Amino acid sequence: MPRRVKWGVIGSGGIARRRTIPEGIAAASNAVLAAVFDVDTEANRAVAAEFGGTAATSVADLLRTDVDAVYIATPAHLHYEQMLASAHAGKHILCEKPLGMTVAEAEQMAEAARAAGVQFGAGFMMRFHSRHQAARKLINQGRLGKLVYGRAQLSCWYPPIPGAWRQDLALGGGGSLIDMGGHCVDLLEMFFGPVGRVSCFTRNLVQGYPGEDSAVALLEFLSGALGTVDTFFCITDRGSRNALELHGSLGSILAEGTIGQGSSGKMTAILAQHDSGYDAGQAREGPGGIDISPEPVNMYRAEIEAFSQAVLEGRPPEVDATAGLRSQRVLTACYESARTGRAVEVL
Ligand SMILES: NC(=O)c1ccc[n+]([C@@H]2O[C@H](COP(=O)([O-])OP(=O)(O)OC[C@H]3O[C@@H](n4cnc5c(N)ncnc54)[C@H](O)[C@@H]3O)[C@@H](O)[C@H]2O)c1
Repeated sequence: MPRRVKWGVIGSGGIARRRTIPEGIAAASNAVLAAVFDVDTEANRAVAAEFGGTAATSVADLLRTDVDAVYIATPAHLHYEQMLASAHAGKHILCEKPLGMTVAEAEQMAEAARAAGVQFGAGFMMRFHSRHQAARKLINQGRLGKLVYGRAQLSCWYPPIPGAWRQDLALGGGGSLIDMGGHCVDLLEMFFGPVGRVSCFTRNLVQGYPGEDSAVALLEFLSGALGTVDTFFCITDRGSRNALELHGSLGSILAEGTIGQGSSGKMTAILAQHDSGYDAGQAREGPGGIDISPEPVNMYRAEIEAFSQAVLEGRPPEVDATAGLRSQRVLTACYESARTGRAVEVL
């Protein structure tokens, strides 16, 4: 039997229990759950009982076990210390976004992984969505022509909840933008390449907690193409279609519901072979476009299998710390722009 990567999970009771353990680690062909830790000991024991592995009593206890890799899925402000401890213990690390609370933290985390000789990945599982991969292929084949504009939207209804770490700036680092915008930025960079400059507005329009509940960022890619990311905590779940739009001079890819935690959604490509000429009527009707519907892939399983394979082969994972750092730099520039009212270069 091929070797399986032994996984430890820090913060087993949240997204780890909802998605990444059942759909990812437990389902992956090259992974096995070996140990879990959560400060919620009851939840931790329940996860260990349901999915196997040791219920560790502390981060240090978990790191003393022979796990090969650690998945960090705790509130954002804890990632830095838990990642550094994991790297010092010689464990490979897949860390949820944002990597750190600041770019400096994320850089130190990447440096710690390098120094320890361990692999370090960022939890951008949405890259693995089969429709996103299909879109990427069309773009790489040049089917959209010159890329001009991309939009990624991720919004939900998130009312005030006492004790919620995402609603406390010191624990979450921001509001809707830091929480959901990282995925949007990462996806647009996967399609369009690096962002060079941003302009951003954030607002507290409805919810009344300190972090923003509304954010719109305008991105300028190094290629010259433009993009927008919109993330709201005050749009109804049914009202937010989580749109993804990728436009080029020869065609467009339009998707709804592919951004998010599910493997579904729909995507259409409207492709021309060449510039179709000017139409003063600007007809919107016509052949309906191509339905992009490859076989669905569970993103959590794909993410864990890809990271585990990288560990088994002793090479960096496809979605490595660079992606996490990039997205953190872009979001930091967005907050700076929102604060100063100026366009900000992404350093
Ligand atoms: N990839 C995705 O689909 C996805 C979805 C949601 C959240 N996230 C990310 O996952 C991380 C966690 O978010 P969440 O929604 O699961 O939050 P959550 O609050 O639902 O769960 C966090 C878990 O961490 C535990 N915890 C808190 N302090 C701890 C500590 N010191 N040591 C160990 N465990 C501790 C909590 O008890 C809880 O079980 C965040 O970085 C978030 O951005 C990713």
